[in-house]
Amino acid sequence: MAKKDTGSDPKFASKTTVQDSPALTALFKDSIADLFWAENHLVKSLPKMISAATSANLKKAITSHLEETKTHVTRLEQVFELLDEKAIAKKCDAMEGLTKEAEGIVEETEAGTATRDVGIVLASQKVEHYEIASYGGLHQLAITLGLDEVASLLEQTLNEEKQADLKLTEIAENDINYKAAEEA
Ligand SMILES: [Fe+2]
Ligand SMILES: [Fe+2]
Repeated sequence: MAKKDTGSDPKFASKTTVQDSPALTALFKDSIADLFWAENHLVKSLPKMISAATSANLKKAITSHLEETKTHVTRLEQVFELLDEKAIAKKCDAMEGLTKEAEGIVEETEAGTATRDVGIVLASQKVEHYEIASYGGLHQLAITLGLDEVASLLEQTLNEEKQADLKLTEIAENDINYKAAEEA
């Protein structure tokens, strides 16, 4: 991120507050509700990927990210609290589509193969990139709205999503892509 704390910029600090920007605040809250649905959905969806995967490294990586994902849900609950809003999820069509695609890949590939693992990594990285885009954008918006505590919570999750994505790349490059290439 180029700017760490625009809250110190007087031009923005005095001009842009939550009260001053009702439409933007509404959009922000709506996007948080969307992300809340997405994270809750992932808590249900990731265990399916863990049981479908074969590589021990891949299972371990998704299992540890499942634990982080539960924390992401908790952080969003804290965000709702800070915004003085009830934690209500709004269906995220994008995440529903991404997880459906992941389940489709599992159905179309053979159990116990590295090829299926590669498919799981591809689908999982699309999920992580969606999350990175969402948290990245909302983190910046929280800063604009002067919501420093919210911004900090979103940034913590953003960093974990980036790490999860890097971990998946590492597993693909050092392990399963080569195994899959040797499969018939
Ligand atoms: Fe997440
Ligand atoms: Fe994630």
